[in-house]
Amino acid sequence: MGVRTPRLSPRSGAGPADRAAAAFREAYGRPPDGVWSAPGRVNLIGEHTDYNDGFVTPFALPRGVAAAAERRDDGTLEAWSLQRPDERARTPPAELAPGAVEGWSGYVAGVLWALRSAGHAVGGASVVVDADLPVGAGLSSSAALECATAAALDELYGLGVPRPELARLAQRAENDFVGMPCGIMDQSAALLCRAGSVLFLDTRDLSVEQVPFDVAAAGLTLLVVDTNAPHRHVGGEYAARRRDCERAAESLGVAALRDIGEDELAAALGRLGDPTLRRRTRHVVAENARALEVVRRLRDGDVTGIGSLLTASHASLRDDYEVSWPQADVAVEWALSAGALGARMTGGGFGGCVIALVPEADVETVRGAIERAYAEHGWDPPDFLPATPAAGAHRVT
Ligand code: GLA
Repeated sequence: MGVRTPRLSPRSGAGPADRAAAAFREAYGRPPDGVWSAPGRVNLIGEHTDYNDGFVTPFALPRGVAAAAERRDDGTLEAWSLQRPDERARTPPAELAPGAVEGWSGYVAGVLWALRSAGHAVGGASVVVDADLPVGAGLSSSAALECATAAALDELYGLGVPRPELARLAQRAENDFVGMPCGIMDQSAALLCRAGSVLFLDTRDLSVEQVPFDVAAAGLTLLVVDTNAPHRHVGGEYAARRRDCERAAESLGVAALRDIGEDELAAALGRLGDPTLRRRTRHVVAENARALEVVRRLRDGDVTGIGSLLTASHASLRDDYEVSWPQADVAVEWALSAGALGARMTGGGFGGCVIALVPEADVETVRGAIERAYAEHGWDPPDFLPATPAAGAHRVT
């Protein structure tokens, strides 16, 4: 019997760290050397900007992936997941090569490969993972898996790799081993986020600022709505968007779209012949400006003031970047009409989650409005999770 990935409804009982440790003990007859945990993330704003050298503002969720792990002397990686108990992956050192490890364990193997490729002396490991983050919901479960593994291997082998470098290596695992050309946001979020703050990351120089984000103090809730429309064809569409941006930057003679300021946008659009590239450029340039403005407002303690920027971000992702999906558009529309101050899709798009900034008194009304709209469309009901910024990857035991 497969273990179902839990959805977003609040749950009780043992968490993934306890379950992974217990499963490890059962499988190997001894406790693991340790258990490490890495969170999923929500991106507040700055979407599809990270591979354009731009700005992002993710925060960690109090849910993620736990890895119970032990060193092995034979150089082999043995990995299994409580979500897929029938697929035990065993990768001897000679087989650790890009493209050679399929499925979820490719993310684990990829991290080991990336560490070794960077010259770190890492032997084998036995790893048992468990998660309380829905897979395919756009909450970055793959980066959580990579980063729980990275934190585990780093400590098991006493490497002391600085966290920003560990994020680069986890991204490399995903880009070069798994073959998904993602940016650096998700791995940075999983490794660098702190409780109570959003991570303001400049993806050009990787400088970070922890910006306090206390929605409750402002009488608000940040509601995560899992639209229960899982990603589809994400890899191909994502890579296509990335290529569009690279072509636009090349036509404009800049290293990345980050180099176009908002005041230069009109002139830049005039120089781009292709209407698709114009739309993509307009999104990226405006989104970077919105992200900077959100950070400015948060630094001033103006949480309420970010709502309209979130909504503008959604419109831009829907109309110019074309990565939204019907369930997200409906969730945003009904959240706003039921009292949300702002709402947007979060993550790569084509399925996954929406976030809505909602006055506490209106949370039930917003939930009800979205549920009713979904029922009228005949869609699967959404799941809801009020989110507060949690800690990044850490050792649990
Ligand atoms: C995915 C990628 C990130 C980022 C977002 C969009 O989550 O993994 O690097 O590009 O999409 O902002």
